[in-house]
Amino acid sequence: MKAITLHINGNRLAAEVEARTHLGDFLRDSARLTGTHLGCEHGVCGACTVLVDGEPVRSCITFAVSCQGRHVTTVEGYDGDAIMQRLRPAFTRHHALQCGYCTPGMLATARDIVLRLPDADEARVRLELAGNLCRCTGYMGIVAAILDVLAQLRAEPDPDINALRAQARAGQFAPPLVADTQGGIKAMPLMAQVGRAASTAAAAVLTAPAAEPVALEQEVAAIRGGTRIEASFELPYPAEAVWAFMGDLPAVAACLPGAAIESQEGEKVKGRIAIKFGPMAAAFVGAAKLERDDQARRAVLRGAGQDNLSRSRAQGDIAYQMVTLDSGHTRVDVDMLYTLQGPLAQFSRSGLVKDFVRRLVADFGLQVQARMGGASDAAAAAPAAVQPLRSLLALLWERVRRSFMGGR
Ligand code: FES
Ligand code: FES
Repeated sequence: MKAITLHINGNRLAAEVEARTHLGDFLRDSARLTGTHLGCEHGVCGACTVLVDGEPVRSCITFAVSCQGRHVTTVEGYDGDAIMQRLRPAFTRHHALQCGYCTPGMLATARDIVLRLPDADEARVRLELAGNLCRCTGYMGIVAAILDVLAQLRAEPDPDINALRAQARAGQFAPPLVADTQGGIKAMPLMAQVGRAASTAAAAVLTAPAAEPVALEQEVAAIRGGTRIEASFELPYPAEAVWAFMGDLPAVAACLPGAAIESQEGEKVKGRIAIKFGPMAAAFVGAAKLERDDQARRAVLRGAGQDNLSRSRAQGDIAYQMVTLDSGHTRVDVDMLYTLQGPLAQFSRSGLVKDFVRRLVADFGLQVQARMGGASDAAAAAPAAVQPLRSLLALLWERVRRSFMGGR
């Protein structure tokens, strides 16, 4: 069990949870906030979306311990929110719910759209909503409600919402305000009362403010250590030739679809990489440093970057090791460890993404082989961005094939 302290809808909540407890279960079973709905529990349907430090997060694939010290806002905590005060009546006006199961998650995403994209048109709203599924297929009303609020704010700007937008652009998060019993708005309280029995999955107690436990922060940092993906590819060249090629960063970047190096100083590079995966598109801009161990023929590329559109941040290491198979063949073992924060983090743990990255590494190996074989730039040219449709179709076909072949 791990001790954590979260701020949920303005209330400080200290709890003991198992490391594996996801935020959705914690909110429902321990904090007794059952407005957060769980659908697929695989990060696909978006029903469980809540705000963590003001940004939408899939609570079914977010560990409660990884939210240590963060502000979580659920559908029960929007009463004092200026954007939600417009979205709720708009949802009613446009009949934007039927059974209502998807509604808490839809509202969280809708709020994010209104906050981040004041000029969004219908196509953009539909794209942003692609991660929230409505089993009643009530999309027309939901889209209309969001467009209605955007139009209202364009016609008559709201100073409170403008202030929220300015904070969001500056990357600042203001703790939510909550409604008091007289219907007014007051600042976030430090304590709250929730009567409940401890669940078997997580035992939570509301406490007076206490110092944040330093040791726990370190443990959480370790748990936040990220997603690990291992992959490998083989090349018909001796290890020393492959090692020499892999030290040429511009040549390596040219083998990675969507990657470009903008400047290089020794082993430090600045560059960008474009990624497209289903409805998700991102262009990360960042910097990396290559650390090479010539003797062990092992290298680590350490980097960090940011996608300005979604305000997602990525940080990680890509380690690769040359393994001699015989005098003319080498296997390159790739070990990626990364963390993703922001809206794109919702996609970071699915098996599909892992398969996708493994396929990307295999494509990278083919590009390296072509270039080492002397293919011209044009002949070996990598596509301008990861080819989403081709890769997705190939992956889905592979999964269908595996299910019919009994995993063979
Ligand atoms: S329950 Fe479906 S995304 Fe979390
Ligand atoms: S209103 Fe029923 S799932 Fe969306």
